[in-house]
Amino acid sequence: MHFYPLSVFVVGLWYSIWSQPKTRFPHFDETLRDLSIGDINFLQTTDTHGWYLGHINQRQYSADWGDFISFVDRFREQCHEQDSDLLLVDCGDRHDGNGLSDLTSPNGVYSSEVFMELDFDVITVGNHELYVKEVSELEYNTVVPRYGEKFISTNVEYLNDNGEYVPFGNSTYRYFTTDVKKYNVFALSFLFDFTGGNERIRVTPIAEIVKQKQFLELLEEFSNKPVDLVAVVGHLPVSHDWLETEVLHQVLRRYFPNIVIQYFGGHSHIRDFTILDNKSFALQSGRYCETVGFLSLSQLDQDNIDLDRKYIDFNLQSFLHHTNYSTVDGFNTKHGLQVSQRLTDISNELNLSETFGVAPHSYFLAGADYNSNDPNSLLRFFENHILTQLEPKICHENMDPVVSSQNNSRMVLINTGSIRYDLYKGDFNRNSQFIVSPFKNKWKVLQNVPADVAVQIQPILNRGPYIMSANSANQLDTSQLLSPYQRAVNSQMNANRLRYGQTTVDDLGNDGDDTIHKPLPKFQVPNVIRSYEYVDKLQPVDIVFYDFIERHVLWALQQACGDDRLLYHSLVQQLTFYNDCELEFNVGELLKKYALKNWQ
Ligand SMILES: *[C@@H]1O[C@H](CO)[C@@H](O)[C@H](O)[C@H]1NC(C)=O
Ligand SMILES: *[C@@H]1O[C@H](CO)[C@@H](O)[C@H](O)[C@H]1NC(C)=O
Ligand SMILES: *[C@@H]1O[C@H](CO)[C@@H](O)[C@H](O)[C@H]1NC(C)=O
Ligand SMILES: *[C@@H]1O[C@H](CO)[C@@H](O)[C@H](O)[C@H]1NC(C)=O
Ligand SMILES: *[C@@H]1O[C@H](CO)[C@@H](O)[C@H](O)[C@H]1NC(C)=O
Ligand SMILES: [Zn+2]
Ligand SMILES: [Zn+2]
Repeated sequence: MHFYPLSVFVVGLWYSIWSQPKTRFPHFDETLRDLSIGDINFLQTTDTHGWYLGHINQRQYSADWGDFISFVDRFREQCHEQDSDLLLVDCGDRHDGNGLSDLTSPNGVYSSEVFMELDFDVITVGNHELYVKEVSELEYNTVVPRYGEKFISTNVEYLNDNGEYVPFGNSTYRYFTTDVKKYNVFALSFLFDFTGGNERIRVTPIAEIVKQKQFLELLEEFSNKPVDLVAVVGHLPVSHDWLETEVLHQVLRRYFPNIVIQYFGGHSHIRDFTILDNKSFALQSGRYCETVGFLSLSQLDQDNIDLDRKYIDFNLQSFLHHTNYSTVDGFNTKHGLQVSQRLTDISNELNLSETFGVAPHSYFLAGADYNSNDPNSLLRFFENHILTQLEPKICHENMDPVVSSQNNSRMVLINTGSIRYDLYKGDFNRNSQFIVSPFKNKWKVLQNVPADVAVQIQPILNRGPYIMSANSANQLDTSQLLSPYQRAVNSQMNANRLRYGQTTVDDLGNDGDDTIHKPLPKFQVPNVIRSYEYVDKLQPVDIVFYDFIERHVLWALQQACGDDRLLYHSLVQQLTFYNDCELEFNVGELLKKYALKNWQ
């Protein structure tokens, strides 16, 4: 094990820093806002998507799950010293997101093991635990028993081996008493109206369950018991325009008219806090181990609840600051260090840090403007350098590779949903490859498309609705919608000393982020991108695309052909595979080929 001693002078303190191999340190000179501890305190994680190794090339989110475990222990000590409670909640989506989770079969074998090193008080499922049957089985058979009565789901059911539907969790609710203040907490958990589950999964939409006798009887029962706090730990966004929360809240308020109802949400991968009424609030804590959500509530039995919410950046400076430690070795716990070591071992076993090159600068998905050809645009980089590396090749089908007329132009088209994350400057390794694009699709081709028809396909698709990627962590891409606030941010990227980072505006204002940053620019992400290789723009075009978007491309082709139905049908008749070698030629592999060639 290598140690990298290093000292940084910060606001009058010397931090001596030690850590695990490969862990990058944050900037230790950021300005932080303090948390105020209340009578009852919460730490929330959501949509971690397996990012327990931390963000290797992003210093702001460079802590790993072991560091987080140390943080939770230290923070709990601090709360208990102040005679306060601390509860930990996780709102689901622990699978699908990077190599640690996705390189095992089923995915999540190792990442779940690491995740389960941490105790939670309430934990539930997200949609990413429900797509693939083997993933649901792993979750139900290992994670549910690990957490026992703390794992709940009120509206998701699992078809067990006896052919019965049972709650996807230990129960539909948890009723418990806190350690310090002895508050009685009644916890429920809901998933949004999700229809993409495998055959073992049944989801009852919130709009339906609030009418079911059994559920109403449960609320009736607990409205007659001592309850100091209702906690709803769900996998759905907390924003005001997400109607399911409002539907649920009206019903809960009928049964608990005067009790604090605290929601925790997720799924849309943002930081957010909303106020539902005088005694009801909702917190959502981002994604990918970039954020730990903090909430404190005081005077639960009064009309004026005292509260604080903070979005803690997932790094050692934040973790040390909020637990009042000045050195990393003082802060680390034995358990935290063990988990970090386990992460290193797993990373070695999966060859996650096997390097393919060094990215010379960062490329951004939404953080750089595709439309103005920004050289930092990840999408332009894919169009100009990655998609062009595709070659025709047949591995499975009983056919020869497509040999097009030598003079044909070629377009290679993908949906941007098949790219998951930014590509950061520095080491580009097996894990980064999975982070940017893990999808294994085949390529189809429409041959000899007249150029004037071919050039219309991308604009038609980009005017249409956003194409979601199956199993993509980008299930709900809010980058499609730019708020007036974000437009203002983009238009005045003023330079001052602050660094770029998350700047959240929520129902309590703009002081929620623990680290003071200047806002990241954020631009509209198109639906599809394409390379266009040609000698002469008048030549017919072979349009090559990921088979995942076939339906969409054919729809766009039909629009582009207009009245010429004959043309449309003759083109579709020749639709065939261009490259069906999904392991060797998926987008992530094309990126790896480029790195091996150009980034050594
Ligand atoms: C619920 O959790 C308790 C405590 O861990 C356990 O004894 C019980 O078997 C669990 N029940 C189910 C249905 O998982
Ligand atoms: C709470 O809300 C109600 C109306 O919803 C309002 O009448 C009341 O003044 C508010 N404040 C308190 C402290 O109850
Ligand atoms: C942090 O530690 C310093 C020095 O030990 C102490 O004076 C201060 O009160 C502590 N702050 C908190 C929030 O515990
Ligand atoms: C990791 O690399 C080693 C040595 O190159 C190889 O033997 C092993 O099979 C690889 N493991 C995985 C999971 O790719
Ligand atoms: C390709 O283009 C060249 C020049 O435009 C022309 O002479 C040649 O015949 C074309 N070949 C084919 C196969 O169409
Ligand atoms: Zn998610
Ligand atoms: Zn989700």
